[in-house]
Amino acid sequence: MFRKKTVRDVQVQGLTVLVRVDFNVPIHQGRVTDDTRIRATLPTLRYLLEHGAGLVLASHLGRPKGKPDPALSLRPVVEPLAALLDREVQFATDPAGPDAQAKAAALRPGQVLLLENTRFDPGETRNDPAFAQRLASLAQLFVNDAFGTAHRMHASTVGVARYLPAVAGFLLAKEVETITRLLESPARPLVTLLGGAKISDKIKVLHNLLPRAERLLIGGGMANTFLAAQGYRLGASLVEPQARETAIALLETYGEKIVLPVDLVVADAFAADAASRVVSVAEGVPQGWMALDIGPATVERFAPFIRQAGSIIWNGPMGVFEFPRFAQGTVAVARLVAESPAFSLVGGGDSVAALHQAGLAERISHISTGGGATLKLLAGEPLPAVEVLEDKV
Ligand code: 3PG
Repeated sequence: MFRKKTVRDVQVQGLTVLVRVDFNVPIHQGRVTDDTRIRATLPTLRYLLEHGAGLVLASHLGRPKGKPDPALSLRPVVEPLAALLDREVQFATDPAGPDAQAKAAALRPGQVLLLENTRFDPGETRNDPAFAQRLASLAQLFVNDAFGTAHRMHASTVGVARYLPAVAGFLLAKEVETITRLLESPARPLVTLLGGAKISDKIKVLHNLLPRAERLLIGGGMANTFLAAQGYRLGASLVEPQARETAIALLETYGEKIVLPVDLVVADAFAADAASRVVSVAEGVPQGWMALDIGPATVERFAPFIRQAGSIIWNGPMGVFEFPRFAQGTVAVARLVAESPAFSLVGGGDSVAALHQAGLAERISHISTGGGATLKLLAGEPLPAVEVLEDKV
């Protein structure tokens, strides 16, 4: 249950509303190349406009160093956003400076103003109260719909809620509710799939998921450290010696839940055109070679767990997905997850990219727009930007 107020719980008619969105979208040569995150906020934006609010939209883009960086301007978002909303979108050339102040003051119900990148101001990432106050002064209500940034304690996500009534948008509420429900009362069995390069990035997630899930299937570089801890030869594969003890402890406590690869696609170099072949884990990775994907026997081993799951949580690729030759394991897993009748949650850039590439995205129950924020929830940790919103009474 989402225990925070949403836009439905407050009066918005005639108000200027500051909406924190996550428009941290890929932009190439001045054009937005993936508008998923923009589309994901449309229900909130449309609701507010239809209910008589004027909108001031704030977002970050990339990681500028607290000063303007033309390559990270949000201006390229104006046109696609205007097309999606089917109305004019004004643009302020600063995030909360004189241009933003003047344009916000003149805003009327039904109008939309997009602010320049909040991280152009050094106060944003420092959660500086003065910057938060300047942002707050642009509006009479704060709505946070930026799930992807909800793990950041910044002025536009956390600080501003001190100075304005603060509620959630539909995307933020839906993401938190869906992920929390999967953790607290999933349809069983709950099958979790973790990939990506390192265990060290996901230790808290492992500790939170293992007691809750019936199975944890592990692929990607993460699996190497578990296999090495079991004494298998990994050649020149990425292995984290400092995570060895963690891997051993997890295998001891949850051994029967953890399912590891039984074969690997190995390469003679970390390169897209490297020579490659499949080896069994028992045979081991030859000296100087490295594991860059899970093999076909591993996909077969994972398949029945995915097919028979009641719920699935998947985060992280099964191999070096950016090299097509080593993307097959990830794509095969994407297909299995899409075909499973289970309720499926997929988060993380590469796993989501694999679904889109294979044309399977619409067969997933919930694709999260978050990266770090999703991981934080999966780790069982609160999101600071959600915590500061008003409680439902
Ligand atoms: C993301 O893309 O994960 C969010 O927009 C947060 O971006 P950040 O990691 O730069 O804070």
